[in-house]
Amino acid sequence: MQTLPDASCDLIYADPPFNQNRRMGPTQKGDTSFDDRFVGGLDGYVSFLRPRLCEMRRLLSERGSLFVHLNWRAVHYVKIELDRIFGVDNFLNEIIWGYRSGSRPGRWFSRKHDTILVYAKSLGNHTFNVLREGEYRTRDLKRSADGVPYKETRKGPIFFHPNGPAMTDVWNVPILSTVSRERTGYPTQKPEALLRRIVLACSNEGDTVADFFCGSGTMLVVAQELGRKWIGCDESAEAVAIASARVTAARESRQRA
Ligand SMILES: C[S@@+](CC[C@H](N)C(=O)[O-])C[C@H]1O[C@@H](n2cnc3c(N)ncnc32)[C@H](O)[C@@H]1O
Repeated sequence: MQTLPDASCDLIYADPPFNQNRRMGPTQKGDTSFDDRFVGGLDGYVSFLRPRLCEMRRLLSERGSLFVHLNWRAVHYVKIELDRIFGVDNFLNEIIWGYRSGSRPGRWFSRKHDTILVYAKSLGNHTFNVLREGEYRTRDLKRSADGVPYKETRKGPIFFHPNGPAMTDVWNVPILSTVSRERTGYPTQKPEALLRRIVLACSNEGDTVADFFCGSGTMLVVAQELGRKWIGCDESAEAVAIASARVTAARESRQRA
C-alpha cells in the first residue's frame, strides 16, 4: 500500500483475519492455511489493523469508499478505530451478511452472520448506485400498461419502482456450499454474489477496486467481470497463486464470450 499514490483507488474491500486465535485451514487442496492469531489478543489485532486502515483511507479517491468485513469478535473494536480514522460523519452502513449453514443447538443462538462496515472517504461525494431486490410488501399491487407497479388509493395511484424495493443493509446471500463450482479450497473464501453487490453499489465501470487481503481473489474476479480495474495483494504466496489463476481464467472466459 505504501508504494501506491494517494487517491488511487475508488473502492477498497478489506477482509482481514478475524482474530479467531487459530490457524485457518489447511484444506484438502494443499497448504492454503493462514494464521489468525495476534500477539496481545484484541489490542494486538487492532494495532495490526490501524496503520493499514489509515493507508486505505489515504488511497481512496474523493468518491471512494471502504468496506471492512468482520465478525462478532472484532467488529465493535474496529468500528471505534474506523470512526477515529474516517470521522463518524463518514460512516455509511453496518451491513449484516446473514447466511444459513449447518448448526447444532447450543447454549446461545447460532452465530450466522458477518458484519461489513462501510465508510465514505467524503460523505456526499461518494459513489452510490441504488440496488434493488425482492418483492414489495404492499398488497394488491396492480401494473400499468408499461409494467410499472402501483397501488390505488383514495388520493390516486402511488407508483413503485419496477425493479423492486431498494436493497437494505441486511443481506441474505448463501455461503459457498462444499460442492460450489466457485470453491477454490481456500479457507474463508467469500461468495462472488456477496462481493458483486459491493462493486455494483459503490463503483462504476473503469473505476479501480482494491483488496489488500485478497485471499483466493474473489474481489479481483468480481471486479474484472464487472469491467473495473483492480489491485490485489496477500501475504500468502499460495493465496496469490490461486488468485492469479482465478483472474486469468475469468479473463479468458470473458474473451471467449
Ligand atoms: C479472510 S482471508 C481473505 C479471503 C478472501 N476475501 C477470499 O474471498 O478468498 C484473509 C487473508 O488475509 C491475508 N493476510 C493476513 N495478514 C496479512 C497481511 N499482513 N498482509 C496481507 N495479507 C494478509 C491472509 O493470508 C488471508 O488470505
